[in-house]
Amino acid sequence: MTVMKIDSRLYNSQERFEQMLQELPGKKTGNTIGRSDEEIEMLVDELIVQMTLEEKIGQMNQSVAGNSSQIGMEFTNAPSLEQQIKQGEIGSVILMAGPETAYEYQRLAVEESRLHIPLLFCKDIIHGCQTTFPIPLGWSCSFDLNLIENAARVAAREATALGVMYAFAPMVDIARDPRWGRIAEGNGEDPYLCARICEAIVRGYQGDELHKEDSMLACLKHYVGYSAAEGGRDYNTCEISETTLRNVYLQPFIAGINAQAASVMSAFNIVNGVPVTGNKYVLRDILRDELNFKGIVVSDYAAVEELMTHGVAKDGEAAAIKALEASLDIEMATGLYGRHLPQAASESIQVEAWIDEAVKRILTYKYKSGLMDDPYKAIRPEAMQEIFSGPYKKVALNLARESIVLLKNAGHPSVNGNVLPLDKGQRIALIGPKADSKDILGPWQTSVFEQETVTLREALEAQGCTVCCVSGCGIDEASEDGAALAQKAVSEADVVVLAVGESRQMSGEAASRQQITLPDAQMVLADRIVRQAEKHNKPVVTILFNGRPLLLNWFNENTDAIVEAWFPGCEGGRAIADILLGNYNPSGHLSVSIPASAGQIPVYYNHLNTGRPFKDGMSGKFYSRYIDGPNAPLFPFGYGLSYTKFKVEGMNLSADRFTKGERLKITVNVFNIGECDGETVVMLFIRDVVASIARPVKELKGFLRIGLKSKESKTVCFELGEEDLSFYNEAGQKVTEPGEFLISAGLSSADEDCQKAHVLFLGTE
Ligand code: NOJ
Repeated sequence: MTVMKIDSRLYNSQERFEQMLQELPGKKTGNTIGRSDEEIEMLVDELIVQMTLEEKIGQMNQSVAGNSSQIGMEFTNAPSLEQQIKQGEIGSVILMAGPETAYEYQRLAVEESRLHIPLLFCKDIIHGCQTTFPIPLGWSCSFDLNLIENAARVAAREATALGVMYAFAPMVDIARDPRWGRIAEGNGEDPYLCARICEAIVRGYQGDELHKEDSMLACLKHYVGYSAAEGGRDYNTCEISETTLRNVYLQPFIAGINAQAASVMSAFNIVNGVPVTGNKYVLRDILRDELNFKGIVVSDYAAVEELMTHGVAKDGEAAAIKALEASLDIEMATGLYGRHLPQAASESIQVEAWIDEAVKRILTYKYKSGLMDDPYKAIRPEAMQEIFSGPYKKVALNLARESIVLLKNAGHPSVNGNVLPLDKGQRIALIGPKADSKDILGPWQTSVFEQETVTLREALEAQGCTVCCVSGCGIDEASEDGAALAQKAVSEADVVVLAVGESRQMSGEAASRQQITLPDAQMVLADRIVRQAEKHNKPVVTILFNGRPLLLNWFNENTDAIVEAWFPGCEGGRAIADILLGNYNPSGHLSVSIPASAGQIPVYYNHLNTGRPFKDGMSGKFYSRYIDGPNAPLFPFGYGLSYTKFKVEGMNLSADRFTKGERLKITVNVFNIGECDGETVVMLFIRDVVASIARPVKELKGFLRIGLKSKESKTVCFELGEEDLSFYNEAGQKVTEPGEFLISAGLSSADEDCQKAHVLFLGTE
């Protein structure tokens, strides 16, 4: 192996990296073993009896690599991380540096600590490691579980080449509030879709066997209810009823646990007034006892320390004990466990017992992951050569294409038919701060290949288009000269493409926004461009790059086509160009509703009916409605256009009633009645008509992405069983109540042509 074949951007120090390459072959066993649970239990028991109390607590302590002292608000004079590792005081590390750093820390743990227990290296691998995929809000619009799983597999292969074997992902918070910046990191508003995507990511990360060298531990976060932050303000208080907690927010976690996810991260927020990190009911009673989660629970960053700030612990010791009692295994970043648990354990047998429980879980996963057999399993120089390679970028391209949602495509007097796809010969005025921008990777971008991101301008030019590209303004800064140049470009082009959006900093963690519009500078530019285009009779296409649903009314009223690209990842430019030019027929469907006004928030399709539901066309005041605007979002969950037209017809049920143990089969025919080939997503919804608690007006229970040639039709088959009709009742019990269910199938949650039928669930067998 020569250093030359590995891209030097992947490490920080050539000298230390080369030394690692020399030493590694003598240290890597390359032999990880898939052991039975019984064998692992025995090995863990053998190890734990040899451990001192301090060594046990060390396993529960997670530090941040690159920092010589831990980042606690309360504690500043910590010994160096290297020193702590040698003393067995650290069990896992958040890896902020290259593989050579992981190697050096691991060597210290394995060779210089008393019991030689290897470290776990963790990182936020949210939507790709070095090959950046669309943000999860984007990829969820693909409804393509296989492709998302593939992307997760690629991310795992890249991360586990570079030292990381524990991802702080998938993020499975169901988000209904676009003001919340972290809506970008999740998979939209629907519990069923989020649950299925969660399973796909867990499969992709953890591979078929956890001990394999390219398998990475998945961590479901943020358990639980974090996305319900009041006012969409990050880290804010949440008010969640027990039934919503269980029927909505818990659903993806349940799916991830059943898919064998190794870890869960406790969230910053409160549930029932108690921060989750110290919430015994949510962590021990629900997660451990009820859902039978046996994996590792890690705190979010400094969340144990924040128990004091929340005002539920008087000091560091009380905070540490509260978290421990709730069954939190690993404390992230502040070292509170290390500082306070030794004393607490010496005074209480109960505290000691909780520590043993936690350490057993951590060591179990160190065995399960193969780390105890090969501590260097996730440093794989040969696999570093695959990073950001052609096949990986192909996955990114395919996923970006499928994630992009065509929201509008109207006709224009200057073109035949609809504005999109564009004719390759048309001269394009490509205008806006996103036109030639590499800031299209999203808030969690961690790739060293950022500069190789393909911009929209580059992609259009590579396809042979004549492009006049003018930014016109910055994300948030107006430019008179820029706007004038942009106006000139409009007059000389055949079509205008406006590329606008948010910067990376405007979405993600701690990036909540009160105004979910584009910044004024871009709105002013867009208005000038649209007026200029009107004057010259040119169509305008809007391309949006963003991490949240934005208010798009102005663009809907003033531009001819709208393409929602989200933050589409490293191949995003190519994917959009393919859609604009008709090389790819758009197929994404919204995983989140796009509001018609900020006053509607939260607006989501699976709402309850209320006692006074309002339907379009009703007159009168005393309905659940606004007097100054619609209830419906501008674009609903599931919505997405294509260059062809699909139709769902002929729903058929295998029975009009069924019992426990039986499966109901539902078929519908899907036609491509348009002129070109394409893909669409068929969705199956249910409604529990009468139940002991009010149930949503619609709930997604199945979906299928299918491809159809022009004029082709296919029969799509769904199945429902008792489980699909179940919900948690007022007492927190999971039940399936007998009675009538309305089944519908269509191409979005608001498909007026959807097919409907009633079925009776009889309950008993
Ligand atoms: C805080 C974030 O909430 C969490 O998602 C992330 O995993 C940790 N920081 C570690 O980076």
